[in-house]
Amino acid sequence: MKTLFNKHASARKLGILMAGGTALMLAHGVAMAGISGTKHDLSVTGSGNKFTATNGSSEICAFCHTPHGADTAAPVPLWNRVLGTPGSYTTYAALGTSSLDGAVAPVGSVSLACLSCHDGTQAMNTTINQAGSGGYNASGALQAGTWVGSALTATPVGSLNYATPSIVNIGTDLRNDHPVGVQYGGGGFLSSANLNVTNATAVGTPTDADFVSPKVTGNATTAAFWVDTGTAGRQKTDLILYTRTEPTVGNVAQPFVECATCHDPHTNAQATFLRTSNTSSALCLACHTK
Ligand code: HEC
Ligand code: HEC
Ligand code: HEC
Ligand code: HEC
Repeated sequence: MKTLFNKHASARKLGILMAGGTALMLAHGVAMAGISGTKHDLSVTGSGNKFTATNGSSEICAFCHTPHGADTAAPVPLWNRVLGTPGSYTTYAALGTSSLDGAVAPVGSVSLACLSCHDGTQAMNTTINQAGSGGYNASGALQAGTWVGSALTATPVGSLNYATPSIVNIGTDLRNDHPVGVQYGGGGFLSSANLNVTNATAVGTPTDADFVSPKVTGNATTAAFWVDTGTAGRQKTDLILYTRTEPTVGNVAQPFVECATCHDPHTNAQATFLRTSNTSSALCLACHTK
């Protein structure tokens, strides 16, 4: 929330700058943060994506969030889309590489939310509460009305020229994707004391020495983990780890890598919604000591 407000504040500042005739930031090619105009702007006025074809809503957030009637079972805030069944996905673990140490949990957390579009099984207008008056359907059936939009396909539709076949349709077989729903650290940490979140100390040595130690803040009930990429503290440009309590890791709260660990769906300040630049593989190296 905090960052969102900050985001608005900087948008205002930018507006003032530009009104003053100094479009300096843009002139230097600094990418504009924010979702508007990105490929996640599915509004009919959005320029980054024409996946919604000709008709749609002018709202941006409504394709993912609703202010009312959201799915309370969703592990993401105010979620407006119907989530897939965890069991319908083939996880990375099914690939059976001998080097995978960490337990892979069923698809869940924020990854399930991303996959509600990126597995290609649901059209873009499969929402719970359509923008505007009326149009609420708890089971998120395809909604009649002004919204249109097909599901992600291997050959994207719309007026933009995408390379085909496209990998944005990740599908339900996740064996060819970087593991998600995987415990960070190559199977946890050398000692359970390393996961002592009560005093918000740094997390200790991961079991697999090829992993960078993550950070933790909060207390036993609000534990929040991340891998730092720069400024101390947990920022949106850090690699956010998601706390999950899974039978596969002994029902202890553990940090997990999910889709939104590497991507922030709200900003293309970095290419492909990455949280941090992957120049010289910096993103990979933030976690993997290679
Ligand atoms: C393409 C899908 C998508 C769209 C569109 C979208 N969001 Fe989100 N949003 C997400 C996901 C996924 C999360 C959960 C991310 C996480 O847990 O890190 C989230 C989390 C949030 C959060 C809580 C966490 C945070 O970042 O502060 C806020 C607030 C939020 N979104 C606001 C918005 C607003 C406002 C809009 C429209 C301008 C919007 N979102 C558009 C997917 C989306
Ligand atoms: C947020 C931390 C993080 C980032 C960033 C990250 N990884 Fe990983 N990666 C992991 C974790 C955790 C695993 C699971 C490893 C395990 O438990 O053995 C993993 C597994 C892997 C595996 C091996 C899977 C296996 O079968 O043994 C490869 C290869 C890999 N990552 C490559 C990459 C590449 C390339 C990048 C950059 C594009 C990247 N990773 C970015 C955390 C990360
Ligand atoms: C409402 C549907 C929806 C949701 C939910 C959604 N996406 Fe997307 N995403 C899209 C569409 C549509 C595109 C553009 C497809 C295309 O270009 O063909 C896209 C594109 C992307 C791209 C490619 C960007 C580029 O520049 O090529 C990434 C990365 C991405 N999404 C990640 C995510 C992640 C991570 C999440 C969850 C945090 C998520 N998305 C949730 C609809 C969604
Ligand atoms: C460990 C980090 C990491 C995780 C986890 C991760 N991604 Fe990505 N993703 C990347 C990187 C890095 C790229 C850019 C690849 C490149 O530059 O070649 C990318 C690219 C993409 C693209 C654009 C592909 C293209 O070529 O157009 C989509 C869509 C996407 N990711 C969606 C997802 C979704 C959905 C999930 C969860 C199921 C996910 N990602 C999990 C690191 C990750």
